[in-house]
Amino acid sequence: MVTCSAPGKIFLCGEHAVVYGEPAIACAIDLRTRVRVREGKKSKITSPYVAGAVKKISELVELEGVNIDIHSDIPIGSGLGSSAAVTIATLFALNLEFDIGLSKEEVAQLGHEVEREVQGAASPTDTFVSTMGGVVFLPSCKRLKSLDCGIVIGNTGMVSSTKELVRQVARLKDRHPGIIQPIFQTIGELARKGEYLVDKRDYKNIGELMNINQGLLESLGVGCPELAAQIYAARKAGALGAKITGAGGGGCMVALVDFDEKDEVASAIESVGGRAIQTRVTEIGVRHE
Ligand code: MEV
Repeated sequence: MVTCSAPGKIFLCGEHAVVYGEPAIACAIDLRTRVRVREGKKSKITSPYVAGAVKKISELVELEGVNIDIHSDIPIGSGLGSSAAVTIATLFALNLEFDIGLSKEEVAQLGHEVEREVQGAASPTDTFVSTMGGVVFLPSCKRLKSLDCGIVIGNTGMVSSTKELVRQVARLKDRHPGIIQPIFQTIGELARKGEYLVDKRDYKNIGELMNINQGLLESLGVGCPELAAQIYAARKAGALGAKITGAGGGGCMVALVDFDEKDEVASAIESVGGRAIQTRVTEIGVRHE
């Protein structure tokens, strides 16, 4: 029997544009999914991500039967990388339980294949960050300095489908390529500047870039009134910057905050109906518990 855990993530900037090859910055956060696997009689698997992970491993070794239990701190379908975390923790646990010898890089690669097969289009962001932890510049997968400030997440409680939102943005781009393509490029430029600012620990300007990124995400049509209310409330309460994180259309927003502002920002998010989660970056990716 093996238990492994993997973290969720937020996007500091770059979601959606990253699907089209533009850079992004994502951070692993201190919310984890734990998966326990046991060789034994087959259990019923309801998650398509877990089923996908089991299928990948069964292409490498013969699996007679496997029993899988999942416990997660990460709200499902909320843009915090819950599907990547469960996929990566399952792959890593099966890797150890059946002594397959996959490296973390190989686990991240298999995880990305599972996400792509389940979702249609998916960037390697969520699966890579969940495997390796830390603050990561995509698509080069360069590890950046950790963030020495707080992260407050606001959850709308509205589940959204990443697959559908990625499709919706693709259709918008097909209708108006000359307008949407430059928006993707600007988001990419913002991530490049963000890389420099993370290195300088310039959180004030990172916050400002997050606010600009939010305007661009709105222009891609992935905002909603509930997210906007929490984003404005967080900014008013002193957040350095606030934006959607993940696919949008519901799910979560993220605010970057000085440590001494986090309670106030969390209360402001709750005052407009959000569920606030105070967290921080974790350097710990997938691990054996
Ligand atoms: C979803 O968390 C982020 C998107 O950019 C999709 C992806 O990167 O696969 C919308």
